[in-house]
This record gives sequence, structure tokens and C-alpha cells, in this order.
Amino acid sequence: MIHIAIFGSGRGSNFKAIVDAVERGRITGARIRLVLSNNSQAGILDLARTHGIPAVHLSRKQFADEGEYVNALLDVLRAHEANFIALAGYMKRVPPPVIAVYRNRIINIHPALLPKFGGQGMYGIHVHEAVIAAGESVSGATVHMVDEEYDRGAIVLQKSVPVADNDTPETLAARVLAIEHEIYPEAIRLLAQAENPLS
Ligand code: GRF
Repeated sequence: MIHIAIFGSGRGSNFKAIVDAVERGRITGARIRLVLSNNSQAGILDLARTHGIPAVHLSRKQFADEGEYVNALLDVLRAHEANFIALAGYMKRVPPPVIAVYRNRIINIHPALLPKFGGQGMYGIHVHEAVIAAGESVSGATVHMVDEEYDRGAIVLQKSVPVADNDTPETLAARVLAIEHEIYPEAIRLLAQAENPLS
């Protein structure tokens, strides 16, 4: 069984897609144990409460130094028995000691076809602006493992969408988001099944 902590900073539409898939029984072998946000006002925390999932606000700013912050983060994860982390619109760097403890057990979703259009500065609408500026005819979304380098971990699942000639970054973002909501629950389903093939 994978026990997931979802980290997010914003509205939480990917979390919503995942929790819906779990509640509908589409993902067996996975439970969402908590949602964590660096932003106390994030919609994702309200959404978690709506679904009866513990919602935790935890930010580096609450702590005197990085070490205390890392310890608090690991304590929260342990207290909720999370053995897996899914980043869903999380705008902060995951501290390296947390990546080390959860090695190969942290995934992220990125709104482009990695390894293209990834790395520092490639987030949100900037990704879609860059895809259109580069004249790409195809974009998409990628679920990947998280390691110490931004957007560079092993790819778990990818799906493409066409880029239309008249796309704006916003219309492309909406088309990509729709497939994010397909592939993120599907990636979690596959990873949970790989962990326990008989469930
Ligand atoms: C998504 O586009 C995701 O690819 C990116 O951040 C956005 C989060 O959206 N990493 P939401 O909070 O899941 O709605």
C-alpha cells in the first residue's frame, strides 16, 4: 500500500483528480494520508478538508533554520505514515534530506514533454509561453520521479496534446491541464500496482 502525502501551493486541481480516482475505486493500493502546503491560503488545503484529508500548512518561514524545517517536515510525514510524496503544483524546492529519505518515492507532474521545457524558471504559464515561442506542434504533460535536479528524474508517464496555430499560452495550458488530470491518477495507479501486484 502506498500512503501518499500530496504537496501543493495552489488551487489543487491535480490533487482533486487523484482524490476522485481514489474515492471512485479507480486506484487501489493507495491512500492519501495528508496534503501539505507552504501557503496557508492555498485552495488545495481547503479541498483536502472537504475530502476529510488532513491539511497541513508548513513553510520554511516558520523555522529558524533549514535543519529545524527539514526535521519538522520529516516529522509530519512520519506522523501521517506517508511513505510516498506526490508534488502537485508545489512551488518550493523539496529539501535534499527529504529527497534522500524518499528516494524513488517522490513524483511530480510537469506541464510539458520533459526533458524539453523543464528546469528552473519553467513553471506555470512560462512553460506554455516557451512552447509556443519555440514553434512546437506538440506539447503535453509528464509525471516523473523527483531527484535533486529540477525536472530531471526518470519519466513515469507522458501524454501529448497538439499545439494549435492560434493557441495562446492560456488555451494551451487548459488543454495540457486536462491531460494532467488523466495521467497523474494513472501514474499513481501504476506505481501502487507495481508495489503490490496482487492487490
Ligand atoms: C499544474 O499545471 C502542474 O503541471 C504544475 O503546476 C500546476 C498545478 O495545478 N506543476 P493544480 O494546483 O494541480 O491545479
